[in-house]
Amino acid sequence: MPRSEQNPAAEGVSQLVEDTTVPSAPQPREFTPIDPPVVREPRKPARESGLLGKVVVITGAVAGIGRATALRFAEEGARIAAWDVSTETAPQLESAIKRAGGESHFQALDVSDASAVESAAAALVGHWGRIDVLINNAGIVRDAQLVKWNGGSPESIMSEDVWDSVIGVNLKGVFLVTRAVVPHMIKGGGGVILSAASVVGLLGNFGQTNYVASKAGVIGMTRTWARELGKYKIRVNAVAPGFIATDMVRAMPPKILEGMVARTPLGRAGTSEDVANTYFWLASDQASFIHGAVISVDGGVVIGT
Ligand SMILES: NC(=O)c1ccc[n+]([C@@H]2O[C@H](COP(=O)([O-])OP(=O)(O)OC[C@H]3O[C@@H](n4cnc5c(N)ncnc54)[C@H](O)[C@@H]3O)[C@@H](O)[C@H]2O)c1
Repeated sequence: MPRSEQNPAAEGVSQLVEDTTVPSAPQPREFTPIDPPVVREPRKPARESGLLGKVVVITGAVAGIGRATALRFAEEGARIAAWDVSTETAPQLESAIKRAGGESHFQALDVSDASAVESAAAALVGHWGRIDVLINNAGIVRDAQLVKWNGGSPESIMSEDVWDSVIGVNLKGVFLVTRAVVPHMIKGGGGVILSAASVVGLLGNFGQTNYVASKAGVIGMTRTWARELGKYKIRVNAVAPGFIATDMVRAMPPKILEGMVARTPLGRAGTSEDVANTYFWLASDQASFIHGAVISVDGGVVIGT
């Protein structure tokens, strides 16, 4: 059979030459600079994440998305440094991390307290020697309209206290924890930083001036740190969850919750595990070229309704 019939691309080159040879095994080709040899490493199983034994700091780890994230990393044999201002359920979290296959080191701290954060980072490095992954998950909401107008005068406003508390935890806290952790990552030769943004940091939201400002700020810091820290092999990304069924949102009136599901094209609230799986994948070797990104985990809310 003429070679040109086997390979139409070769037509015009060999069509005049009848090929009478018996087909044999493909021969190695010579490579040119535009077709460089690909050195393939043996393929790793999909579950091999590169996170076994890695030291993962998770802020706000005792509840909701933080807890699910701690357990997801523990399943892969990571060492979990759980940092939370709430200590009540910390012992249960520590046992659950161990049952899932990880190691646990809990530290009680408020992420908006600079000296507590610096001490916790130093204590952790004293304990495990390094920090590989940081997940800035701790966050709070304190909703109020900027100015609620009623009968020709303001009925209420967003107070400075309400503004400061949310900015203190969600924005300054992310800044303080990341600033404390980065030198240890640089010394260790790299790392991964993931931060909780929110779909409302992209879209805005009624009654959430403070929260939206904090989450938009997290997106801005993520992009800035991606530029500053890439050269140290530190990958930096943000995750923007939509409506995730945790205590943070369960406290809202049912009418608002129903409205949130109605605005979600997938027609359901997300789970903490939906977000935990995203953090896990972003921290893994599978996401080694994802940097400076904001990944929506929102059932499609961000595309608008
Ligand atoms: N649940 C959602 O629908 C949703 C949507 C978008 C973004 N997010 C973000 O995801 C993150 C986790 O949300 P969640 O729903 O799991 O919240 P959650 O309220 O269930 O848990 C928050 C955790 O953070 C801890 N925390 C609060 N303030 C702290 C502080 N000052 N220092 C240390 N720890 C502190 C709490 O004790 C708690 O363990 C938050 O940053 C939140 O803004 C959540």
